[in-house]
Amino acid sequence: MAKITKLEEIVSLCKRRGFIYQSSEIYGGLASCYDYGPLGVELKRNVREAWWKSVVQMRDDVVGLDCSILMHPLVWKSSGHADKFADLVTVCKKCNTRTRVDHLKDHADEHTEHVPVETAAVDAQSLNKKVCPSCGKIGQFSEPMAFKLMFETQMGANADDTMTLYLRPETAQGIFVNFRNVMDSTRVKVPFGIAQTGKSFRNEVTTKAFIFRTREFEQAELEFFCEPGTDEDWYEHWKAARFKWYTDLGIKSENLRFRDHDPDELAHYAKACVDVEYKFPFGSGDWQELEGIANRTDFDLRQHQRGMRTLNSWFESKGDLTKIALKEEAEDYQKGPLSYFDEQEKKRYIPYVIEPSAGIDRSTLAFLVDAYDEEDVNGQTRNLLRFHPDLAPVKAAIFPLVKKDGMPEIAHNIYDDLKRLFPCFYDQKGAVGRRYRRQDEAGTPFCVTVDGQTKEDNTVTVRDRDSMEQSRIPGDQVKAFLRDKLDM
Ligand code: GAP
Repeated sequence: MAKITKLEEIVSLCKRRGFIYQSSEIYGGLASCYDYGPLGVELKRNVREAWWKSVVQMRDDVVGLDCSILMHPLVWKSSGHADKFADLVTVCKKCNTRTRVDHLKDHADEHTEHVPVETAAVDAQSLNKKVCPSCGKIGQFSEPMAFKLMFETQMGANADDTMTLYLRPETAQGIFVNFRNVMDSTRVKVPFGIAQTGKSFRNEVTTKAFIFRTREFEQAELEFFCEPGTDEDWYEHWKAARFKWYTDLGIKSENLRFRDHDPDELAHYAKACVDVEYKFPFGSGDWQELEGIANRTDFDLRQHQRGMRTLNSWFESKGDLTKIALKEEAEDYQKGPLSYFDEQEKKRYIPYVIEPSAGIDRSTLAFLVDAYDEEDVNGQTRNLLRFHPDLAPVKAAIFPLVKKDGMPEIAHNIYDDLKRLFPCFYDQKGAVGRRYRRQDEAGTPFCVTVDGQTKEDNTVTVRDRDSMEQSRIPGDQVKAFLRDKLDM
């Protein structure tokens, strides 16, 4: 059972143990930006790699991609982000705090992701009954306004030829604009998927939830292209696959659930969308989105076909790209450049897309919270992180029982041998009991100890983090033993 009940507890645990620090802390910190420390960087890398292994490596129908963060501005015009990716916000006249209108419902509940501005506008009609989450005043709000979520930046050295670009707010569009490239350069056939992980940026209004919602974060997204008509089956397929990924990696199933989006909550591109939610043990909402799985239909590929047609006319006019109107869809859009020709069936169509879109930071937080445990051992509290071995930042720690009698040399040899395979830690300082506890707190699944008996019969002890049981095995079998236990 997770024993964490407040956000501050996880923040302090993460700092104390070197998982996550506030960004630029020595300068007072930068709001909503975080840095991953020595254990955190390994944990996050393992989460990303576990996602990649499950979504790309283990499948024959998904390929990977790594796109640039800066993209042509028309990408965001075509995707709808340039015009629609905004939150409706209001400012409290008393304390000057800016809050999302849809978050005022439950006193700044953290529950929702971005709801369409039109939906939030309905809430805005009853602002006089809402409470400011910061100062508690009722109904003292300014006229709501749309707050754009994309960060802008300038490309180009000369003042007169710079171009306004956006930091991508999702990795998905990089996949759509490379659909043709991947089709032409590989032998993929629909149904197939393109996956990528990478940083995304959103100028979020509501943060203050540690790494749950930040302005710079990492996403892991899959766009799975399928024939229209088969989309609902693939939607169910990916729902099941993604839920299983979390539980296979140790999240307790009672802490995980699906939540279907209401029709008025659906993003402008989606036919259906479900969130995989995790029951965080803090915050007012408890259940919070970990990942969204959407049926995006053929919206994106069609929109990019329109964008491609619009680009031609922009070359002629050289007008402001952000204000340009997209050309209407061609009548024969099903035969457009982003369509797919099914050789066997001899038919052409724009594929539908199922998109499981996860957050690497957000799932790292869930894995941390879920793994945290406290238990009473001989009247003392043992704190530990019961990470799945694939996620554990350090897989094994190697100790000499004492710093003499040749034990450090033997232990160091084992350590040198093992660290070529996976991250290990060597420690010879202090009482061995305390060294075990430190590794429990870091979530290290196994500790190998060289002791007096090692010199007599070449055996060592291997201690299991969860059961605390120790087995004695021959020193030359440690590698095989751990590889078997860690499945590596
Ligand atoms: N391409 C679809 C898309 O981006 P989303 O629901 O906006 O959908 C997908 O984001 C996932 O990305 C979320 O479920 C969450 O895990 C992560 N995410 C989104 N905004 C985030 C933020 N500000 N901070 C941390 N993670 C975020």
